[in-house]
Amino acid sequence: MSKFDLPARLKGNEKSVWVEYIQLALQYKPLNLGQGFPDYYAPKNVTDALVATANSDNPLLQQYTRGFGHPRLVNAIAKLYSKVINRDINPNQEVLVTAGAYEALFVTLQGHTNPGDEWIIIEPFFDCYVPMVQTAGGVPRFIALKPKSTTSTISSRDWVFDRKEMESLFNEKTKGIIINTPHNPVGKVFTLEELQFIADLAKKWNTLVVSDEVYEWIVYEPHRHIRIATLPGMFERTITIGSAGKTFSVTGWKIGWAYGPSNLMYNLQVMHQNTVYTCSTPIQEAVAIGFELEMERLGQPECYFHSLAQELLPKRDYMAKFLSEVGMVPTIPEGGYFMLANWTSLENKVKLNEETDKYKDYRFTKWMTKNVGLQGIPPSAFYGPKHRHLGEDYVRYCFIKKDENLKAAADILKKWASK
Ligand SMILES: Cc1ncc(COP(=O)(O)O)c(C=O)c1O
Repeated sequence: MSKFDLPARLKGNEKSVWVEYIQLALQYKPLNLGQGFPDYYAPKNVTDALVATANSDNPLLQQYTRGFGHPRLVNAIAKLYSKVINRDINPNQEVLVTAGAYEALFVTLQGHTNPGDEWIIIEPFFDCYVPMVQTAGGVPRFIALKPKSTTSTISSRDWVFDRKEMESLFNEKTKGIIINTPHNPVGKVFTLEELQFIADLAKKWNTLVVSDEVYEWIVYEPHRHIRIATLPGMFERTITIGSAGKTFSVTGWKIGWAYGPSNLMYNLQVMHQNTVYTCSTPIQEAVAIGFELEMERLGQPECYFHSLAQELLPKRDYMAKFLSEVGMVPTIPEGGYFMLANWTSLENKVKLNEETDKYKDYRFTKWMTKNVGLQGIPPSAFYGPKHRHLGEDYVRYCFIKKDENLKAAADILKKWASK
């Protein structure tokens, strides 16, 4: 072993599906439905706000701002969430602004994990949860959402966890559970009953709940996003995480936040002040201006928090249709902008043996990128080591893309499937 080897606590986390698939896309230049971001313009009011901030006659807007969050932004965040969760949130003690939701997750897990603490993670999961738990010295405990059918088109609501199994994971060592609703990659919007079940266990075992709600505004009618922090007795034990990138379709801005009770937020602040310390001032200012405008028109159809899902609905339905037409079996998401599809009926058209990866979905997506020119993401990347096979029959596609690109994806698939 050499002195400069990867430290032991990072071992096992070398592989990242994003690094690998972005490289693949650069090399083969497929139509990319892999990563989750729009390929079209962000809302003009937020980009205009950034221009105005850059040209502002206040020179301090280009300098360091308050470490735990730019005052204008924490005020806007506190005001908005006070309204939506119906409880007064203190902008200075109960909100932390972070470098994307990623950093909010990171400081939450670093700030709340002692060696050996267990974190319950629902599979498939946003892939960074596991390395974040492990590098903090914690132990991930997994439970999978399972589809009720694999042969017919289903709703993301049909992906469910087994309640007995969930119950059996909680014990004295459990520090918390990480939930993600609306869910990436399934698109599931957790129901009140499911959230209540989790909340009751969290209360029974005195654990935290980390609620990753980055897709909170992207929910398709008639479904409703429920914040677990609003259930009785839950604000006290919940840290809720959001993302400006997802909220305003500006993923490159990398501003996120966490909110929760001040005693829990304190741990995040300690971690944040010693790692990132403070986030970009002009971007925070522009996000604050974006929030202020949306708060004025909250509840109206033109509010971006409502119009984004309206804009995405036809894209979702179009993707579900063309995937079904080529023989895949999509799960129709209730929220978010990803779609899982079971591709196994097309297996005889793919030369899986030309790829060397262990899991079939990796081989399918790589072969498709190289030979058909369409890129998706292999969902087995979103499972723990024991359950990876559960993701193998699926591919994840992103549909927050220009109509012409979705049409091009449909044409590529149809042409290939009809050969
Ligand atoms: C479920 C989930 N959580 C967190 C993030 C990270 O968000 P951000 O870009 O704000 O760091 C993403 C991004 O795709 C996500 O899908």
